[in-house]
This record gives sequence, C-alpha cells and structure tokens, in this order.
Amino acid sequence: MTRKNLIAGNWKMNNTIGEAVVLAQEISYDFYRDWLELVDVAVCPPYVDLKPVVNVFEFDHLKVGVGAQNVYWEPKGAYTGEISIEMLREIGCEWCIVGHSERRGLFGETNEDVNKKVKALVDGGIKPIVCVGESLAVRDEGSYLEYVCAQVRAAFAGVDEAAAKSAVVAYEPIWAIGTGRTATPEQAEEVCAAVRATLAEIYADKTADAMRVLYGGSMNEGNAALLLAEPDIDGGLIGGASLKAKSFIEIVKAAM
Ligand code: 13P
Repeated sequence: MTRKNLIAGNWKMNNTIGEAVVLAQEISYDFYRDWLELVDVAVCPPYVDLKPVVNVFEFDHLKVGVGAQNVYWEPKGAYTGEISIEMLREIGCEWCIVGHSERRGLFGETNEDVNKKVKALVDGGIKPIVCVGESLAVRDEGSYLEYVCAQVRAAFAGVDEAAAKSAVVAYEPIWAIGTGRTATPEQAEEVCAAVRATLAEIYADKTADAMRVLYGGSMNEGNAALLLAEPDIDGGLIGGASLKAKSFIEIVKAAM
C-alpha cells in the first residue's frame, strides 16, 4: 500500500496573528498547487491564529489544511480556558494535534485524556494527529517500544475502525524534540513499524496499512528525505523548521 505523505507544521506557541498571516502567505506564495496531488500538507498555529491562517489559504484557493494543537472533549459548558471541537470545525480546522509530549509533560495530559480527545475528535469530524514518544530515560533503559505501543493502545482504546482511519500517529521521541538531535532513520523506522504493528493488533491489517505514521523531532530540510524514505514513515510533524517558509517548503518537496 502506498500511503500519501503528510507534512504538518506544529507552530507551538509562536507567531502573533500578524506573524502567522505573514508566514502562511509566504508558504502560499512558494507553493505549487500540484504538489497537493502527491503530499498532504497542514499547519497547526496557536488557537487565535487559526481563523486568520484559514483565511489566507482560502483566499489563495490553496488546500493546505489547518489544525489546532489541542482541544477539549466536552461539547460546551463551564470549562474555563478550553476550546471545543465545534468551535474548531466552525473556523475550518481539519486537524488537531493530541497528546503532544509538551502537553503531557508540562500540562499533565494523561493517556486517558488523549483517548477522550481522540474519540471526541473522530466523532466530530476532525482528524487527530496523535503524538506518542519516549523520554531519553525510557530509551536508555530499553523499553521504548513497549512504552510507545502502550501509548498507541491507550489512545485508540474504544475507537472504532472506521473512525480510526481518519487519525494519524506521530512518533516524536522527546529527546529529539527541539534538541537538534534527530532520531536516525533506522531508529525512527523501528518505532514507526512497531506503531503500525500495534495498530494491526487493534484493527484489520488493511486499516493499519492505510493509516499514516509520522516522525517528529528536529526534522528539517537536511534530514527529511532520508527519514521519509523509510517504509513506515509517512510524513513529518515539524516544529522549529516549520516556522520558516523556505525550510517548510523544502520538507514538503522532500515528501513528494
Ligand atoms: P522540533 O521539530 O522543533 O524538534 O519539534 C518537533 C515537534 O515537537 C513537533 O510537534
């Protein structure tokens, strides 16, 4: 099965509205529409930038997807500071990152929270980008495959097969995020293959085969091609390098 690569930029807590609009315009300016036949592309700006960035791509008739970096699973109510799926859908959000290690580590997001968010997102018609990945301590200790696969099982618990198909998994080893220390293609492939094998335990082989598994962690224009050449790596979730239009575009090109 040939899976279409997905290149998604995670802007994290960077870019005011003005800066976000400029970055989206720069991406759009350098983008050839035909590329989207060969690769799916999305950017995930902070909440307040979402609508302005959607507007830029809509104005340019460019089908680059826009995603949020987080969401709350309840439909509405007294949840101060949270954002609902309906709110995201209304402004044209197609994707949502869930369970990023920064949210797990800094904001106490648990596997159970991630599971509730995945279920609510697929029910609500927004495609989750489910992040998994081990710390350096877990890697050094040697149990990283068990650790990551347990995160995958937890995230998809009770998610039915048809709905799961819309989700992608992003393997992001914490030791590679923002450190400049990228996983080697072999290290990334080993875990991405294990993620797919875990999906195949939960769902039919055909479904696991169709689902995309991304790599993230210091991915840039210099290392993307080799990582993306691995059979079980179907794209990238890009942090730092997605904040520069030229770098992001180069990664998109490497994914075609
Ligand atoms: P960097 O590409 O900056 O390492 O960040 C990766 C990441 O966390 C994407 O979600």
